[in-house]
This record gives sequence, structure tokens and C-alpha cells, in this order.
Amino acid sequence: MTPPSLATLAHGQPAPFSAGAFARQAPIRLDDNAYLQRQCARESNARSYPRRIPLALEQGYGVYLRDTSGQLFIDCLAGAGTLALGHNHPAVVRALRDTLDSGLPLHTLDLATPVKDRFIDDLFGLLPAEFAARARIQFCGPTGADGIEAALKLAKTATGRHTVLSFAGGYHGMTHGTLALMGNLGPKAPLGALGASVQFLPYPYDYRCPFGLRGEAGIDAGLRYIGQMLSDPESGVLPPAAVVVEAVQGEGGVIPAPARWLRELRRITREHGIALVLDEVQTGLGRTGRTFAFEHAGIVPDVLVLSKAIGGGLPMSVVIYDGALDAWQPGAHAGTFRGNQLAMAAGSATIRTIAAQGLVAHAEGMGQRLATRLRQLQSDFAAIGEVRGRGLMLGVELVDERAEPDVVGAYPADGDFARAVQRECLQRGLIVELGGRHGATVRFLPPLVIDEDEVDLVGELFGEALGAATRVLR
Ligand SMILES: Cc1ncc(COP(=O)(O)O)c(C=O)c1O
Repeated sequence: MTPPSLATLAHGQPAPFSAGAFARQAPIRLDDNAYLQRQCARESNARSYPRRIPLALEQGYGVYLRDTSGQLFIDCLAGAGTLALGHNHPAVVRALRDTLDSGLPLHTLDLATPVKDRFIDDLFGLLPAEFAARARIQFCGPTGADGIEAALKLAKTATGRHTVLSFAGGYHGMTHGTLALMGNLGPKAPLGALGASVQFLPYPYDYRCPFGLRGEAGIDAGLRYIGQMLSDPESGVLPPAAVVVEAVQGEGGVIPAPARWLRELRRITREHGIALVLDEVQTGLGRTGRTFAFEHAGIVPDVLVLSKAIGGGLPMSVVIYDGALDAWQPGAHAGTFRGNQLAMAAGSATIRTIAAQGLVAHAEGMGQRLATRLRQLQSDFAAIGEVRGRGLMLGVELVDERAEPDVVGAYPADGDFARAVQRECLQRGLIVELGGRHGATVRFLPPLVIDEDEVDLVGELFGEALGAATRVLR
């Protein structure tokens, strides 16, 4: 089934703006305005997105956003991958209105409600049957980071071990505990000791293979490194409680783990009694063309952390885990905001709409279409080092092709060029984010409801932006 057209998005009423309006609009102006000036004067120096996406937003429908000057943008950031159904999808808006009208208490800690009960049914219905049969769920504080914190505590308690394994390039949140698992040094550097005992492992980043090998040989070397480290009585690493891994690293630069690597990681963790924690905060709920990214490898994790899309755009995170790990005590992961009824209602509406409209397969198809468009650009722009990703989670790593390549033929990441491309995209009405080493990977995370014409437009605008940045910087 095809997703609803933009024209029907606003409660059956025509949406106030559309693809046609986007095409007809005057050239975008990114002038400073009063909102941005006040934001600059009042908000924290730690603010992040507004520095590269200086917009004051007023409305959103589907894949489109409108700023306070009436300019339209195609949103390939979508709340950092949160808005599976795009902005203000009628099913989500209806679920929110119905919940508000029903008189349900909006704040319920972790007490039972019919809305929560239905949400758990909907969520468990998505899990592989063998996992669902043994699954327990813990509602966490509303952020992905809190879900990861809970997963660490769960695994440590269940195994009686304290060490955790994480991966170079990994991103799991910004609390002290989750920063300890982070690859990127920037946010960690000022903080010193982060509290968790973490051992970092090489991630299978083929383009910049840490073993200088690439391909199957690179995968083998990475697996051997992990297997050897865990078997060596003198590795210096105490037996770990958990391995925390993204099946596709998002912030790390949109790097998909090969299915074989993930299957072997599953085997190795089982062999060593280590809980395999899949962080699907960003990949969960159809983003990669499967409901969960671990399905690409046909594995089942011990612990699954979900957030972002499962709240239908509202804050929520959960940990779903094998009941055999359920050794923590009552109150072990308390928190005030674990009962967001509106998020659960919006989450159920999102899960049901994704199923009814076949949006997981749609994401796979649209992702292939966009990846093809992006790869076509590679022959025109030598600065594209690699196009990669799964489903509608795609990245284009930009490099300095004039520099010397490394041993595997990879050119240095070019963050300055990527920032110029991002700016040129914005000036053409396309919102994209950057990630990866030196911020050199342009990331595409559009809502799963994006249609073919919109995908083609994204490819076209990105090509124009690359051309404009090339003329200035090359
Ligand atoms: C894979 C992954 N894990 C955890 C998080 C942290 O989620 P939050 O920002 O809600 O704390 C993110 C956020 O982008 C993420 O991408």
C-alpha cells in the first residue's frame, strides 16, 4: 500500500502546503530573525542543531516544514529519526485528541492503564515470536539515554559483572553513563571519569577498515579480535556484563554492520555469557527497511532498547529483555516520567499505521531509490567517498579527494566541505544532518512516508548543493 498523499494528511483536510508550493516558492533566505536572535541571547551555549540549521519553525505536515517566514523545507532530519510518520500525521493527531478527550490521567508513573496495556500488546506484536514469548518490558525515563542506562543496570545486575563493551563510533546518549560508551571524544573530553568500566572494540567500518583490510577479511579480523580478547586470560579485560551495539551506527556516520558480523557477535556473546544489548533507539520501527535492524541478520538480542519513533513523536523509551535477565529488584530503575500516556497512544497509532500501510517495505523501497540517486552522484563528484546505509537511514561520506588516500584507498574525511554542502542544501529547502568522523557524513533520515517524487527531489537538491559547494571549495 502507498502512504497517504500529503493532500490528505491534515485530518482529511487539504494540507496547508504541498509539493507544488515547495516547487513554486521564491529562493530561500536564511536571514537572522527575531526568534533566532532571542534564542542566541537566551539559550545555552550547549545548543546544537540551531547552529547549523538556523530556522524558526512554525508548522509541519508530512515531510514538509514551514518556518516563520513562510518558507518550506523538506525534512530529512525528522526529529533525529523520531518522526516515522512525518509531521502531524492524522493518525497520531487523532490518537492524541482522543486520549485527551477521554479524561485519562496524563501522568501515571508506572501504573497500569488500558492505553499502556494496548501499547505493550502492539509493541510485543512486532517482536520475533521467540523473543516476545520470553520478553519483559521496563518503561524508562523518556530519553533513549535513559533506556541505555537501564539496560546497563539490568545486565550488570543479572550477570554480576561490571565491565561493558562498546564500539568505536558508537552513540548511546549524553548522560554520564552513556557518554562512557560513546566513541566521539568531543563531549567526553571535559568530563574526565565517567563512571562505567568500558572497553572499546573496533566496529566493522568498511570504508575506513580499522585493520587496513576491507571486505570479508576486515570482518574476519574484527571478529577474531573480539573472540581473542574474550578468550585471552591476560587480555586485561574483566568478563563483561554486556555488549552494547547499534546494528547501523547512526551518529557515528551511518555505518551498517554486516549481517555476518552481527550473527557472529551473537554467537560469541552467547558463548561468553554476555548480554547482547541492541541499541535500536534510532533504527527501530522500520527505519532500516525492517521493523528492527537486527532482523537483517536474523538474530535475536538479549536486550532491546527502543525510543524515538515508538512514542509517535512524543518522548518515551523502553527496554525489552529476555525474562531470564529479570534479576533486578523492585525500584531498580525508577523515574517520574515513565507513564507518558499521550506517547503510548501516539506510539500505538504509529505502530498500527506502519503495519496498515506497509511502511516498513515502503521504507526499504524508498531507501533503495534514494541510495541509487545518491550513488549516481558519485560519478560526478569525486568528493563522495562512500554512500551507505539501510532503508531510509542513509549517509554520504564526503572526503578530500585531492589528498593522499590511506592504505585501503580511503581519502581523509572533509568536514568543512560537508558543512558547506549542508548549508547549500538548506538554501535549497532541504534539511539534512551531519555525523560521522569530523562531521563529514551527510545523513538522510526522512519520515518513512516520503514518496517517490519527494525522494527524487531530495536527490536533485542534494546534487545541486554538491555542485554549488564544489564550485566554492574545490
Ligand atoms: C543509537 C542511539 N542511542 C541512544 C540515543 C540517545 O537518545 P536520546 O537523545 O533520546 O537520549 C540516540 C540519539 O540519537 C541514538 O541515536
